[in-house]
Amino acid sequence: MVSQNKGENLHCLIIGGSGLVGYTLVEKLKENYKIALTYCNHQVDIDNTNGYKINLENHAHITSLLDKIKPSIVCHVAAPPSVDTHETEKEKSYSINVETTRAIAEKTKKMNSKLVYLSTSNVFPPVKRIFQEDDIPAPINFYGACKLGGELAVAKNPNHLIIRTDQIYGWNKTRQQKKSFVVSTLDKLESDQIIEVCEDWYNRPTYVEDLVSSIKRLIELDKVGTYHATGSTYLNRLEWAKKIAMKFEMDDSLVKGINSGILHLPAIRANVNLGNTKIQKETKIKMRTIEEGLNAMKNEKH
Ligand SMILES: NC(=O)c1ccc[n+]([C@@H]2O[C@H](COP(=O)([O-])OP(=O)(O)OC[C@H]3O[C@@H](n4cnc5c(N)ncnc54)[C@H](OP(=O)(O)O)[C@@H]3O)[C@@H](O)[C@H]2O)c1
Repeated sequence: MVSQNKGENLHCLIIGGSGLVGYTLVEKLKENYKIALTYCNHQVDIDNTNGYKINLENHAHITSLLDKIKPSIVCHVAAPPSVDTHETEKEKSYSINVETTRAIAEKTKKMNSKLVYLSTSNVFPPVKRIFQEDDIPAPINFYGACKLGGELAVAKNPNHLIIRTDQIYGWNKTRQQKKSFVVSTLDKLESDQIIEVCEDWYNRPTYVEDLVSSIKRLIELDKVGTYHATGSTYLNRLEWAKKIAMKFEMDDSLVKGINSGILHLPAIRANVNLGNTKIQKETKIKMRTIEEGLNAMKNEKH
């Protein structure tokens, strides 16, 4: 077990280190741990870390890497990019999210390593209430079902952390990273385009720095179990986009609300309101409101 440690000589592997969360985790954890990371299509080079090209569609790739470097902590934060992709590529989604996660859980259990897994609000149904960690999941889309399958696999390793989050935002750390809603909205506003956003999609936007700081603290405190790491504001995309425009002093009249029904997207959105009381209490980290998160982005260099 990783006990009350600051991690000086421990080896930590970040699976998905080229993504927004993974890259931010590498930056945060490399102060205290020896870091290795994986990427798939987008190679990243970060000082003092080793990078490995791994495709999670073949679970032998990642289990061989685990055998080779034997990390004390594994943070699994890799997944294909969108909720809709999971719906249209079910076989691939199941293989990556469930089967490979199961292989990682079995291997880390054998090695007595801690396993941290990033999951989603989509494990819950679209019911109007705040969901807590001990509520029973009931996903309504394939992404949620596969992430729940991943959670169940991860829980086979008793030394696990399952972190459920929602709509992560922050400045991109590399050019290739998928743009968060904040960054893509700002791009469109800068080019004076009309932006159509779904008024019927609700989220708890989560500032990536808060997500990563809370994961780091949970590891240091040697916590196990499930935590909801979300921001402190629940709002719809129209409200969110208007706030972005106002915060960055752009023309909010360019933002128009639409109903998602007209887009005929493959996946139904769950609109889950994921409560964050437990993580704030145990880590003493304040999960920012959307106002606070946008302020932080405005003040951050990028
Ligand atoms: N973004 C959100 O709003 C959100 C909300 C809830 C939960 N999550 C969860 O948070 C995690 C990370 O999110 P993120 O925003 O950092 O995503 P991201 O920026 O899209 O990064 C995804 C990472 O997964 C890797 N990846 C994708 N397909 C892969 C494959 N077949 N084999 C190996 N690696 C693969 C990518 O590698 P390459 O780029 O090198 O190909 C990248 O490192 C995921 O587990 C996701 O389910 C995200």
